[in-house]
Amino acid sequence: MKKTEALFEKIYNNAPEVCCFAPGRVNLIGEHTDYNGGHVFPCAINLGIRCAVSRRSDGVLRFFSANFQDSGIIKYSKDDLSAKGSWADYPVGVIRAFGAFGYPIESGADFCFSGDLPDGSGLSSSAALEVATGTALKELFSIPVTPQEIALIGQFAENRFIGVNCGIMDQFASAMGKRGCAVLLNAETLGYKYAPLGDAAVVVVNSGVKHSLASSAYNDRRRECEAARGALKVSALCAVTPEEFEEKKHLIANPVCRKRARHAVYENRRALDGADALISGDLELFGQLMNASHESLRRDYEVSCAELDFLSETARSISGVYGSRMTGGGFGGCTVSLLKPDAVANYVEVISAAYKEKFGIIPEIYNITAENGAEIIKRR
Ligand code: GLA
Repeated sequence: MKKTEALFEKIYNNAPEVCCFAPGRVNLIGEHTDYNGGHVFPCAINLGIRCAVSRRSDGVLRFFSANFQDSGIIKYSKDDLSAKGSWADYPVGVIRAFGAFGYPIESGADFCFSGDLPDGSGLSSSAALEVATGTALKELFSIPVTPQEIALIGQFAENRFIGVNCGIMDQFASAMGKRGCAVLLNAETLGYKYAPLGDAAVVVVNSGVKHSLASSAYNDRRRECEAARGALKVSALCAVTPEEFEEKKHLIANPVCRKRARHAVYENRRALDGADALISGDLELFGQLMNASHESLRRDYEVSCAELDFLSETARSISGVYGSRMTGGGFGGCTVSLLKPDAVANYVEVISAAYKEKFGIIPEIYNITAENGAEIIKRR
């Protein structure tokens, strides 16, 4: 955090009033279920975005990011918060969303961000940016919002101002994570419970293939699920059990929509079974569910790619690995694997060498720990 503070001082010639941190997330299981009214099982992680911020007496909002230094300081006026097509549209969208939730931001402010989350890699750098902004604003202006509301405000900003029709998982994990635990979230009711990870190791491998959620594919999947939901005449796809789905699937005439629905229905069951397995210490079962999740995302939901398939399959053949799957929206990004702690070193070595041989690059690999959701680090 010291670095972000020092950068703030250098850029704005002034010390920040508030510093906070919002983590990224890795989803262990339950993919593309959140916007289908189902369950997800992510944890907040030890990589994220730091934010230093101070009020201004005028109506100017300034943004700087160590990760986008080339963009320099980006300026907005509080009276004109229209998008400029830059990274700063994310925090600006959050400021607009605070207004929509009944908490108008009446003053200007200076923001400085820095982060160690790889962009576009499925570890939720966007959500971390939104939640960091929301957490900083709450503290700076003493706004009485809860962490859950900050998550909803972040999602609203992304849906309405960025144009990605995402669900609530990423922002919720970033705001509500708990050290040492994954969180089983019912995305329909926002009911949740924490499940300790125990002594399983979590390792993330970045394929290096950049995804772009805004690219129409994510929104296409949502539309296909909506069509399937309409054909089944249910309130949400994940309100349907696998047994009911098998009875009623003929109602979905379009074969693509039927596949999408099959993924959502079975993935919701896997998320619930996965949480039970983790809680009861059955890591073998959890791993099998992860592998099944990957195959369903690959074949039915069609959001994987050759690099992710290779990483997941290779991981499964390495000793001490319980399971491995793509994580996040897909079309590139990362895999997440669960393994025995003493198998990590060998896993890293073998998967790096195999990926290098097949795709010509050494992948970035992260040892993940589950961490708390967004926190204030300092208040002057
Ligand atoms: C992205 C979205 C989430 C979720 C995942 C897929 O990360 O932001 O809401 O839909 O994709 O599980």
